[in-house]
Formats: sequence, C-alpha cells, structure tokens
Amino acid sequence: MVYLNYKTKRGDSTMDKICTQEELNRKIKRVVITQEEIAAAIEKAGKQISEQYDGKPILLVSILKGAFVFMADLCRAISAPCEVAFMCAKSYYDGTESSGVVKITMDLDRDISGYHVIIVEDIVDTGRTLNDVVRILKGRNPLSVSVVTLLDKPSRRLVDFKADVALFTIPDFFVIGYGLDCGEYFRNLPYIAEYNQEG
Ligand code: IMP
Ligand code: MG
Repeated sequence: MVYLNYKTKRGDSTMDKICTQEELNRKIKRVVITQEEIAAAIEKAGKQISEQYDGKPILLVSILKGAFVFMADLCRAISAPCEVAFMCAKSYYDGTESSGVVKITMDLDRDISGYHVIIVEDIVDTGRTLNDVVRILKGRNPLSVSVVTLLDKPSRRLVDFKADVALFTIPDFFVIGYGLDCGEYFRNLPYIAEYNQEG
C-alpha cells in the first residue's frame, strides 16, 4: 500500500494526515474539464496569440507553481517566436478564503522593458494575485501586459479584475489537476477535477 503525507489547505490548514492512494483518489469528485477539452482550447488560444503578436517580441510569464503545466502546453501551441520566464506569486489562504496578502516569493530574473508581456495563469479567483502582479509588471516599462488564464471563477471576485483571455469559466467550487493543487497534491492530474471535500 502506498502512503502519502497529505496536507490539506482546506478546513484545518495545520492538519497533517497520512493518506493512502485510495483516500487521495476519493478526493477527486468528478472530472470537470477533460484532457481533450483543455488541449483544444489551448490550441485555439495559441493560434490567437500567434496571429495577434506575430513579429513582436513576446515574453510569456508563468505564475508558479499552478501555471507550470498550462505554460508548457500553451508555449508549444504558439508558432510565433517567444521567450518564457517564471515568477512565483502567492496569495495566502486561510482555509478556503484568500487572506488578501499577495507576495512575490520568486521574482523574474530579467528586464521586461521592450517586451509584450503575456502573463500565463492557472486560475483567477478573487483576482487579488493578478491585480497585484499586473500592477507590478506594468511599473517595469514593458510594451504591454496582458493576461491569459486557463480558468476563471468570476463569481468569487473581490477586486475589479478581468483577464484578457480566459479559456474556461467555472462556478464556485474548488478544482484540482493540470497544475492546480490541494495541499501540493494533484498537480499531476492531466484533467481538471472538482475536489471532494467530504471524501
Ligand atoms: P486569487 O488571488 O484569489 O485570484 O488567487 C488565485 C490563486 O489561488 C490561483 O493562482 C491558485 O493558485 C489559487 N486558487 C484559487 N482557486 C483555486 C482552486 O479552485 N483550486 C486550486 N487553486 C486555487
Ligand atoms: Mg496560481
């Protein structure tokens, strides 16, 4: 039997639980967006970006960790020449609620002036993280800043923020997979699933 050290961010954030693989599987309530649906949407978004920015200097900025899978697939769907960069921005959660504190825990290692910056994000929830990240990056004199997010939960918004492109809009439930985690697990699921809070 495989035992995993499972920490949950939901409910009791200090809870340290040993879970079996079976127990982790029970946390996957249902598939919300399939691998095929994600691939088709990314192909479309990649084409759109290629056409819109062809011949211009593009810098894709992925927000770690959640967006690493999306970034890997999106950059390969873009045919126009582009560069990639990574930064880590964390919004701190107290259980299910964002505490509203956004911190850049790993900054870009380069100058972004002279680039059209496209921020690649996994999900826009309250909007606080990206609101801050966009403000910070705009202050560094890029040619432009736009945002592509895989998922959007507009019903959860606490600040006035809108992504330029959102591949999927979902209702208010917690999702895992395709880079998104709960307690650092499930990022490796190839699809987006609803997290089962009772299981
Ligand atoms: P925001 O600042 O509230 O928009 O927070 C966005 C960040 O919270 C995302 O980049 C995710 O890391 C995390 N997040 C928000 N909703 C979910 C979810 O349903 N599943 C997993 N992570 C989430
Ligand atoms: Mg994220």
